[in-house]
Amino acid sequence: MTERLERVRVAVLVSGGGTNLQALLDALHDSPIARIARVISSRPDAGALQRARRAGVPTTVLRDAGDPAEVLSALAGAQLVVLAGYLKLVHASVVARFRGRIINIHPALLPAFGGAGMYGRRVHEAVLASGAKESGATVHFVEEEFDRGAIIAQEKVRIEPGDTPDTLAARVLEAEHRLLPRVVLELARRIA
Ligand code: GRF
Repeated sequence: MTERLERVRVAVLVSGGGTNLQALLDALHDSPIARIARVISSRPDAGALQRARRAGVPTTVLRDAGDPAEVLSALAGAQLVVLAGYLKLVHASVVARFRGRIINIHPALLPAFGGAGMYGRRVHEAVLASGAKESGATVHFVEEEFDRGAIIAQEKVRIEPGDTPDTLAARVLEAEHRLLPRVVLELARRIA
């Protein structure tokens, strides 16, 4: 009798609409490798919470995302932590607890166009203003400072003539939805 391996438990931290969470829910739906065990939001009105509930995934809304004890309690049992549109800085004690098993996705080619305050539309405005010929998505390990951890993988996208921050954001988001599930499954295979 082959022993059924327990799937790697993934916790996802969110703050917004949750399209990256949705890409993970879809990709892990029938995966034997990993499952999304909990979705944790820094905001009670995050659309990501509805997506989790529709998928039958337990959810937690943080009362105070700045309280490491509360965040650690919500992450109890997680073997891999994914920040997917999570807008809060992760406290050093949470990074220490999950070092090497906590990742973030950023909508630009880090180390450029990252750091505190660089999120959402501002990122794409800065990329276009720089005259860059390409942008893309980055998945990296989370450290104590925003967007500073080792890069795990990137997917580049072309910048087209006439691109606006919105058209670029949409193209990068499609890359994110391909990149994040691939990286999560690769890391989960190493943990399993
Ligand atoms: C994505 O662009 C992600 O790279 C950034 O925040 C956005 C989240 O979007 N961290 P969603 O909530 O996953 O739709």
